[in-house]
Order: sequence, then C-alpha cells, then structure tokens
Amino acid sequence: MLGNDDWWRDAVVYQVYPRSFADANGDGMGDLPGVRSRLGYLSELGVDAIWLSPFYTSPMADGGYDVSDYRDVDPMFGNLADFDALIEDAHALGIRVIVDVVPNHSSDRHPWFQAGLRDRYIFRDRPNDWESIFGGSAWTQVADGQWYLHLFAPEQPDLNWDHPEVRAEFRDILRFWLDRGVDGFRIDVAHGMVKAAGLPDVGPKEGRQAEMLGDEQLPYFDQDGVHDIYREWRPILDSYPGGRMAVAEAWVSSAERLARYIGPDELHQAFNFEFMMADFHAKSFRAVIEKSLAEAELVGAPTTWVLSNHDKPRHVTRHGGLARARAATLLMLSLPGSAYLYNGEELGLPEVLDLPDELRQDPAFRRIGESRDGCRVPIPWTSAPGCGWQDPWLPIPGSWAELSAEAQQDDPGSTLNLYRAALAARRSHPALGGGALTWLDSPGDVLALERSSGDGDTLAVVLNAGDEPVTLGELGLSGEVLLSSGPLPEDGSVPPDTAIWLQPR
Ligand code: GLC
Repeated sequence: MLGNDDWWRDAVVYQVYPRSFADANGDGMGDLPGVRSRLGYLSELGVDAIWLSPFYTSPMADGGYDVSDYRDVDPMFGNLADFDALIEDAHALGIRVIVDVVPNHSSDRHPWFQAGLRDRYIFRDRPNDWESIFGGSAWTQVADGQWYLHLFAPEQPDLNWDHPEVRAEFRDILRFWLDRGVDGFRIDVAHGMVKAAGLPDVGPKEGRQAEMLGDEQLPYFDQDGVHDIYREWRPILDSYPGGRMAVAEAWVSSAERLARYIGPDELHQAFNFEFMMADFHAKSFRAVIEKSLAEAELVGAPTTWVLSNHDKPRHVTRHGGLARARAATLLMLSLPGSAYLYNGEELGLPEVLDLPDELRQDPAFRRIGESRDGCRVPIPWTSAPGCGWQDPWLPIPGSWAELSAEAQQDDPGSTLNLYRAALAARRSHPALGGGALTWLDSPGDVLALERSSGDGDTLAVVLNAGDEPVTLGELGLSGEVLLSSGPLPEDGSVPPDTAIWLQPR
C-alpha cells in the first residue's frame, strides 16, 4: 500500500488535534502515545492517513501553533521516541502520517527571538496599520521602542522570509521530519510568510481588516514571492521515496489564486475551504463543487474536501443538526479527490457552545470574543462518566457518553458506522475517489450526481436539502441503496436532510 506515489489524490485524511484526541498518561491532555493507542480504531474507521496538528515544543499560546522548537515533541505530548513508535505502527497498518509545519511565525520563546536575533523577524521603528487575525494591531512594542509584526497573537512573531537563514532553517526542518518517515506536511498559513515590499498600509476598511477567507488582496497574504519558497521545497519532497506530499492552508481571494500553489513544482494540494463555507442547499453545494472541479482541471490535481477542522464550528452545528451533517458527509465522501476529516466528526459531535469563558483558551477569545475552543473539546471514548478522560483540559459534556466511540461501536445506525461504511465503499468502488462526475437533473433543493469509473462501476448520489421527500422515480433513478445518511421510508423516497449512494440497476 505504501509505495503508490499518488496516494494523496483520493486519500481520506483524518486530522488529529493531539491535545484532544486520546490521553495515554491520564493528565487530562491528549498525547502521542494516546494517538498510537487508537491506531486500531483509525484503521477500522478506514482512513488512509492521519494529519497531526502541532505536537512540537510550544508554550501553547495558540494551541501549539506557536512553536519554540521545530525539531522536538513538547513533553506534554511525549517525546521523539513516542513519535517514532507512532509512525512505525501507523505505517505497519498502512496509515500514512502528515505533520503540520508552521513557517509564518515562531513562538516568542523560540531561541532566535529569545536571543534577540531581530533580523530573523520583522522589526520596525514604527508600526503600520496592519491588524492581527486575532484582533487589534499586528504590532507589539519592545523595551527599546521598536515594534515587531505578528499577524496572529503577540506570542507568534512573524518570521522574516527575506533572511536566508530562515529559509535554510525550514528546508532543514522539512528534512528532519522526512528523515523520520513522515509522508507529508500540512502547511500552516501557507499564503503568509512573504509580505509586500515596504509593508504598505492597507488603508481604511469597514469592519475587521484581516479575515482568513476574504476576497480582497492584502499586503501580507498571498504575495507572489511565496511561490519561490514552495519551489525550493518541492525538490526536497521529491528527493524522498514513496510520494511525500504537502497540502496548503491557503486562504486566498479566488480559485485562480489558489491554483497557483499547486503543481509539479509547488505543492500537491490546497484545502478547499469554500466547500466548508457552503450553506446546506443544493445550489450552494453545486456551485462550490463545480468551481472546485474546474479549478482541479486547471492544475491537473484533484481537489480536497473538508467540512470540519480545529478552526471552525463543527458541521453538525453549522449545518443545523446531525441529520444534515451526515448527509453533507455522504455528499463530501462521494466527490472526486481527497477528503479531510476532523477528529470526532465520525462520532457526530456537535460544537460545544456553552464552555465557561474562563476555560476558553483560544487567544482570539480575549481579543475579539471569537473562540475555537468549542470544536476542540476532547473526544469521548467510553460511555462511563468522564468518557475515558480524567480531568480533561476542556470539560466534556455529560451527554457525550451517548456519543462515545464505545456507545457507537456496535450500533449499525451510528454515525461511526456510517463513516466506516462510506470509507469502506470508497475503497471498493473505483467510481468513487478518482472517477468522473456527471450532474443529473434534479428538482428543487435536491442534488443528484453520478460517479463512474472507466471500467463500468457507477454510483448515483442524491442529497435532498429541501423540505419535501423526493422519489427516485422523480429523479429517473432506480437501483440498490448502498448507503443512506438516515432512515429511508418503504416507498423509495429520499426524505429531507438525507443523502444516499445508489448502485443503479
Ligand atoms: C492556522 C491554524 C490556526 C492557527 C493559525 C496561526 O490558521 O489552523 O489554528 O491559529 O494558523 O498559526
């Protein structure tokens, strides 16, 4: 299995948020041995790869996206030997491992910042008008009066990518992890790093200046020079065997701009956040899917799909309930390309909306009142009180015992078993993943499409996002229902908020 260089093209990649996934030493914080202990679960789920959010040495000012040593594991997560054991076991199960790389900024506890190596960062005598993504000015003043740039929290100073040692350091960090056997990288803020020459002001704007998904070009995001970095990185990835890949977290203003990150001399993939942002309506989904497919054509690489991650409210809550979330998932998993799952979505976890303010840890919360903590609550493993955790770093709602992996394990109707069945079908049906997509006529708020492979495997997918049931007859379809996101009535109709995969007759 490990050896197919194009594995990432239709892979299902499972995002592990290490603090919240599984806790092996009982300190209330997830860790790498915890991830290792759950590889059997992930293998049974049927994922092709895991992506580990940062587990590097970090003061945790931004959940580990503030790295103080890029070549080590934070003691809260274990050590390098734990990492090596994890990757070895994962590979033995045929699961690849992608790690996060955080190149736009380091922690303010990084030795360079601590040693006052100001040329590695962006220090100026006067700030400009740039705002931090987490709110407030993007500049903080130090004792001698100079200011440094931080597009995120003040504890995350932006690195100066004009400095050759910054570039050399990251090339070396990539090699460090590639040598340890990682199969790829998720590049954090991949559209950052290079800033417009002279750091020009943005000028007056209504509302917040900097939002991740804006349609405007900003002098600190998506500058042409960033592509030189990826052109330096690609030969490094290509020099290792087994299809090492990179996926960009790039929030840019258009599909065309996003496409520039992808190609044989840059990155393999970029997250397609527009699918995540689409409303639960046939029209919105279709528009995004069409756009994404056109973009994939442009770059000659299949797109990625994602419904939830550690930065956005979970899709059960965003789309208005579990039924819709399950339907959206079945749609996503039927689309050409690769899919990224976020830990806990396979259990149908909702966003936790009522976390007490004093427990919230997102650095954005204190500044703009927005908090991503609600999607970072630890995963319920058992149905016992505490759900398998002792004093977790964020409290797990009592009601989650019913949503635990243990509670869902043997329930054929559970969300966990829906995900397992869908991932198994992706593996056994050549039409899914790599096959072609054709739209079928459908009335109202219904989406219908067909996937087919060259060798005659065909599946039809129907999503009813409307208020009325739709019959297969109305859609001109008949066949055997392979999977359904919810209960189906005897009359062969697809109820509202339901999706099916159908093997046409
Ligand atoms: C990315 C991460 C997010 C983090 C930010 C700064 O957007 O996904 O969690 O806060 O970068 O590193």
